Amino acid sequence: MRVLVLGGGGREHAIVAKLLESPNVDDVLAAPGNGGTASIAVNVKLDVEDGAAVAAFAKAEGVGLVVIGPEAPLVAGVADDVRAAGIPAFGPGAAGARIEGSKRFAKELMFRHNIPTGFSEAFTDEEAALEYLQEVSAPIVVKADGLAAGKGVTVAMDVHTAREAIRECFAGRFGDAGSTVVIEEYLRGPECSLLAFTDGETVVPMAPAQDHKRALDGDEGPNTGGMGVYSPVPIVTDEEYAAMMAAMVHAVEGMRSEGIDYRGVLYGGFILTDEGPKLLEFNARFGDPETQVILPRLDGDLAEILLATAERRLADVSLAWRDEWAVSVVLASGGYPGDYETGKPVNGIADAESLTDVTVYHAGTRLAEDGSLLTAGGRVLNVTALGPDFASARERAYEAVGRIGWDGMFFRTDIGARAQRGRAAWEA
Ligand code: GLY
Repeated sequence: MRVLVLGGGGREHAIVAKLLESPNVDDVLAAPGNGGTASIAVNVKLDVEDGAAVAAFAKAEGVGLVVIGPEAPLVAGVADDVRAAGIPAFGPGAAGARIEGSKRFAKELMFRHNIPTGFSEAFTDEEAALEYLQEVSAPIVVKADGLAAGKGVTVAMDVHTAREAIRECFAGRFGDAGSTVVIEEYLRGPECSLLAFTDGETVVPMAPAQDHKRALDGDEGPNTGGMGVYSPVPIVTDEEYAAMMAAMVHAVEGMRSEGIDYRGVLYGGFILTDEGPKLLEFNARFGDPETQVILPRLDGDLAEILLATAERRLADVSLAWRDEWAVSVVLASGGYPGDYETGKPVNGIADAESLTDVTVYHAGTRLAEDGSLLTAGGRVLNVTALGPDFASARERAYEAVGRIGWDGMFFRTDIGARAQRGRAAWEA
């Protein structure tokens, strides 16, 4: 089978690499891919948000499965167009992708189906939003309703910051995405990402993972797309895991009861509060960088799992998780998530990968014409290491990081450190 993967980040590199382990995959096309996928797949140019173009390309190229990585093509309904062309698509159509594409829709779905989450109100009028802010005060979270390239969420520790965030949304900073503003409860506790494969009936959880969203050590600095991650998550109790799974199943059942055909990944972003796990958000796709620690631990045929999901026969597939730990450290361009320079030569990847159980996934790289590897984004590489225990996986990941370099590279030195100290580290 030929597979087309849409997207060009570390998540997509990890998906492509895992797909190629399948005996049923002949080759993979990546659109647009990156410097990492270029060496194992064929990178192609394609407007990934144009469903008709993706479907026509897939048909012309004899593609047997289209895997949609990022949220934008999902929200644009690319899966619907691909399915309409008779090609299996992994990823929900536009109706299901609203669970990520509209924060308001997601919250209202949670309320309708009694899924634990924080309080929330949506506003299309600035004055009403500001009045509500006076009532609920801070800390509080302000979100642009629609997709805003990861920049539409403000965690406001004071009313002034929240007020500014509301004003910016209504002033058009995020275009249409900010014309509805969602104000929601600030939830306290450790985060945990639980992703599941679902074909709308069967829900198969993946191993839990924990991302580190802040740019700097000690969870300081601005929010990013994610600076490092590990799996499994040792601080999650059995009761919390059961509650998270129940929430995921309720969401899938809830969507089904509302006539939504959901086939792909449902990503639950939870906060482990004192009152139990509560949903911060749902995403309609694999997490990034969560995928870079989850897929290396997957003991199963990813191509078969994704195809079965797309064809609504997930119940027939079996998979397991390796009894190993995975830690991934994101290497970023100096200045990220603000302005940063690109085009810097990257050194040391082969040396890093010569270490046992180390894989370097490319997130923002490109191959120059002379074959050298250059930085091409904010998050550049994800260095993932597996180990028999948490400490050895961390040690290996950081040993590998020490072998890589470019002008301006930065990374967090404490990925997984807090979890190694136990739950009390969040209460301190
Ligand atoms: N790890 C955050 C995300 O994928 O949205």
